[in-house]
Amino acid sequence: MAEELRQLGSRSVTVVSGGVLFAADRQLAYRATLWLRSAVRVLEPVISGRIGDIDQLYELASRPRWEELIGPRRTFAVRATVTQGPFTNSQFAALRVKDAVVDRIRARRGSRPDVDRRRPDVPLRLVVRGEEAHLFRDLAGDSLHRRGYRPIQVKSPLSEAIAAGLLLLTEWDRESPLLDPMCGSGTFVLEAAAMAADRAPGLERRFAAERFPDADAKLWRELRAEAADRLRPALAFPLLGTDRHSGAVAIAKQSAETAGLARSVRFEIADAATFEPPFEPAVVVTNPPWGERLGEGADLVASWRALGTFLRRCSGATAFVLSGAPELTRHIGLRSSQRWPVMAGQLDARWLRYEMR
Ligand SMILES: C[S@@+](CC[C@H](N)C(=O)[O-])C[C@H]1O[C@@H](n2cnc3c(N)ncnc32)[C@H](O)[C@@H]1O
Repeated sequence: MAEELRQLGSRSVTVVSGGVLFAADRQLAYRATLWLRSAVRVLEPVISGRIGDIDQLYELASRPRWEELIGPRRTFAVRATVTQGPFTNSQFAALRVKDAVVDRIRARRGSRPDVDRRRPDVPLRLVVRGEEAHLFRDLAGDSLHRRGYRPIQVKSPLSEAIAAGLLLLTEWDRESPLLDPMCGSGTFVLEAAAMAADRAPGLERRFAAERFPDADAKLWRELRAEAADRLRPALAFPLLGTDRHSGAVAIAKQSAETAGLARSVRFEIADAATFEPPFEPAVVVTNPPWGERLGEGADLVASWRALGTFLRRCSGATAFVLSGAPELTRHIGLRSSQRWPVMAGQLDARWLRYEMR
């Protein structure tokens, strides 16, 4: 994500636990919301402070100029994450912040703003870590990983943001053949296609920051027009996802249609154990089943063996495999040349690199 921000023009990027801090003017903040692939949220800090109890939280949350930050005739909502705070009930913390906001605006404006939990104009986020409290405006509103291309609730998908982040780690050049032999709902292939097509993940989405009282509608229009200009219609190299599960392949195809990427990707039914790649992939990326959510036992071992067999057919490729189970990884029968520890959802996993020379 830090690298993505640098590419977007940010000159002060600091990696912190679970995120990246960056200084931004409005343009860069909007750009980040529109373009970041590996981020889940873009948050604008409003106020931070130390708090010893819930009353001090109320007091801290009364200080920002909410009458300007939320503005008249707009709805808001507060979501809270509390870890090891002086109190632990995050709902209660959110409620106290909401009270502080309402009380302040009522005192200054004589009327109170409405709360809309589902689609607030100004979503606020409270993070309490120990005695530190931070309040933010959430620029996207809905989580950025929801690109809008998933047709239905898919059973075990990889988050789009994680898939994009893992792809960025591969340093794939965005113009060489790429393949996922266990593609499931196709997340890697779809994210790769979006990257190669230079398609802004937020191109078709509307964000909360467009409804902020200080929103710059002209700037949003300019950034969207620029994003539309950058979009490449079709790609001149193969991007292929295969899976033995026909239902998964059907979902992947449907997602490609929804994403407007159907002309750039292919999805086919195939078992990795016997599949002969129709081209020489430069990069193979995949997320085999590891039992946390899908399949079990002998079947899992067979899948990892099949992956090893498949990879041996991809000479010249660099392969990347997401694994959450070291005892399964060894069934690939190859030695990885690099590993990154990553969190996939709540799970500890490894992103492993193999040179198929
Ligand atoms: C964890 S899921 C992949 C999820 C995927 N990354 C996504 O975005 O939805 C693992 C996939 O491996 C597939 N699979 C397991 N063994 C396979 C094999 N031998 N050949 C092809 N696909 C296989 C399963 O059908 C399943 O869809």
